[in-house]
Amino acid sequence: DAASGQPAAAAPAPAAPPKAAEPLTILFASESGNSEKLAGDVSKIARKQGFKPKVVDFADLDLATLPKAGKVIAIAATWGEGEPPARAVRAYGELMGDAAPRLDGVQFGVLALGDTSYAEFCAIGKALDARFEALGAQRAYDRADLDLDFDKPAADWIKGALKALTPAEAPSGNVVAVDFRAGSEDEDAEVSRDPVVVEVIDHVNLNSSRSDKETIHLALEFEDGAPAYEPGDSLEIFPENDPQLVDEILRATGLSGDEGLRKALLAERDITTLSPTTVERFAKATGHADAQKFVESGEVKAWIEGRHLIDLIERFPAELTAEHLNTVTRPLPPRAYSIASSRKEVGDEVHLTIAAVRYETHGRARSGVASVHVADRIKNGAKLRVRVKPNKHFRLPSDPATDIIMVGPGTGVAPFRAFVQERRATEAPGRSWLFFGDRHFTHDFLYQLEWQDALEDGSLAKIDVAFSRDQPEKIYVQDRIDQNAAEVVAWLDGGAHFYVCGDAKNMAKDVRAAVVRAFESVKGLSSADAEAHVASLERAKRYQQDVY
Ligand code: 2AM
Repeated sequence: DAASGQPAAAAPAPAAPPKAAEPLTILFASESGNSEKLAGDVSKIARKQGFKPKVVDFADLDLATLPKAGKVIAIAATWGEGEPPARAVRAYGELMGDAAPRLDGVQFGVLALGDTSYAEFCAIGKALDARFEALGAQRAYDRADLDLDFDKPAADWIKGALKALTPAEAPSGNVVAVDFRAGSEDEDAEVSRDPVVVEVIDHVNLNSSRSDKETIHLALEFEDGAPAYEPGDSLEIFPENDPQLVDEILRATGLSGDEGLRKALLAERDITTLSPTTVERFAKATGHADAQKFVESGEVKAWIEGRHLIDLIERFPAELTAEHLNTVTRPLPPRAYSIASSRKEVGDEVHLTIAAVRYETHGRARSGVASVHVADRIKNGAKLRVRVKPNKHFRLPSDPATDIIMVGPGTGVAPFRAFVQERRATEAPGRSWLFFGDRHFTHDFLYQLEWQDALEDGSLAKIDVAFSRDQPEKIYVQDRIDQNAAEVVAWLDGGAHFYVCGDAKNMAKDVRAAVVRAFESVKGLSSADAEAHVASLERAKRYQQDVY
């Protein structure tokens, strides 16, 4: 781990005359919080090494300050189809644009986070790295592009980057190795980062049996009390793979019968994701000539679309050893779900709302690893490994008297169940307004009875629903916002906070556009002014998103 290699005895270094600490700007562009967490880690280590670190969210970045930053570490996540995290869009756009300042004299290193199961792996980190250089900055340390299992490589990268950015004349005694995962002093410290085992105490399909959807309400109980999660946080589930798929892979590789390997493929390796990296590693490991030709053909990217590892193994049959499978696959990542409960109402439990993902591509039935594990193979009494993932950018207003507007179609409603529970339990005087949408009123109205109760007890002031397939034309939550534009604007003018959770690709953008439209139509603003107004709400953290 990061601490090994340096004995702790390095601690009482001879009191080197404290030089003026070297300023270090740690920029992060974060969506789900990983880049932000790493930025905090860098800051702690850098401080111990004699830097004067400053952590800056891209959301708050004033580009004019960058040329004087001196030393910069940028940690950037890539989101969806190669996009910057939502909060980073503005500053990222400015940095990429013609008006960006020169960065001569800046030394930098970029750490890119991504997910190889998406096409544009680490695109934002790569673009930033190139952009810093193009603007005249000097690369002090080479970029690393990290997949979901970034803990160890990120620790290594941070160590190397800080070393590269340390001035040559710095007294070597003040460089100490620190295990950045231990003893974190930040506000999330009380939230355990180690997975804990929980018991499933409730497992209900929220859709009717005639629905074409299956959304599981899952209640989990912590044996030793729930960790300190807040409404807005997520819970990571450590899933298991489909045992049938494991068997198929074992058969196709001629490895069937090895129990140890079967267990590892079930619980430890990502045996579905197919990325260009997987294909390259497969070709190298097997030495399969056709697979190697395929890698060089330039056709990999298009072919892997909608396909999984099993398709590759079937296309290029080869005897694979257990070690091959280990080098070809990545560790099975946990999947994060927005928490649907408040501890103030459910005590030692945590609730989730999980839609089973099932679809067919290239003639083969496919399923989401974690969601279908939960839907099909988890029953009451089963055990699951989970871990809280804090999200401090999706939080109820600190003042309980502040009104809130929540937009959460489908499973996007999950965190709002937590919000409403919290506000009920704390008797918050602020009003709460929910926009919910799904396909059919009779089959898909998630938590309908609970919303009715909440309306009665006042913890919900208003609900507006959009059932998209109950009539010939589609009706979506953003249509309800259009219809309620005057009142939405009145709430926002009165200080309300606005929350969106759910689909990032279309819904969240369409909802934001509806809010911009509302300011245009209700207040007669130009589209540019309305857009600027919503942007200012975002900067004030009064417009928050939790999208996926
Ligand atoms: P649809 O599937 O009928 O198109 C939850 O999934 C709900 O979100 C469904 O009713 C779904 O409608 C709807 N939905 C799909 N695309 C959307 C979009 N761009 N904006 C808002 N809601 C959308």
